[in-house]
Amino acid sequence: MKILVIHGPNLNLLGRREPEIYGSETLGEINDRIEERARLRGVSVVTFQSNHEGEIIDAIHRAAEDGPDRCDALVINPGAYTHYSIAIRDAISGTDLPTIEVHLSDITAREPFRKTSVIAPVCVKQIAGLGVESYLLAIDEFADGAV
Ligand code: DQA
Repeated sequence: MKILVIHGPNLNLLGRREPEIYGSETLGEINDRIEERARLRGVSVVTFQSNHEGEIIDAIHRAAEDGPDRCDALVINPGAYTHYSIAIRDAISGTDLPTIEVHLSDITAREPFRKTSVIAPVCVKQIAGLGVESYLLAIDEFADGAV
């Protein structure tokens, strides 16, 4: 099984971006943890970060098409796009990729505009509020064949 992990906008700033909300680990450190978990669970993982909606959509399309970038499953932290990107939602629903939406913070316990995810209805699951553990549990779910 090959899993694509997409990190959306501003997640390249992790480590120095509002550490009281998002923790002190950098994106590189988080990716190391994701890769370590994938190795332990015997699945393959590819990580990708972009600040651009269209690039995220292109990555989802490539993962769903036959070719070298084909993946079996998607883990996505869409960042702020979570709350309004119908285009990313349509990219997910337009492919056959089972998708888990993840968040470092608990989006239900913050500003009202973060409570709504337009992405969640097209995902098999949402895992939020557990820091890097949100990503690791998503890898476990796919490795276990639980979703
Ligand atoms: C986030 C939550 C979003 O509301 C925010 O815009 C982010 C990060 C999270 O991981 O907690 O960029 O997706």
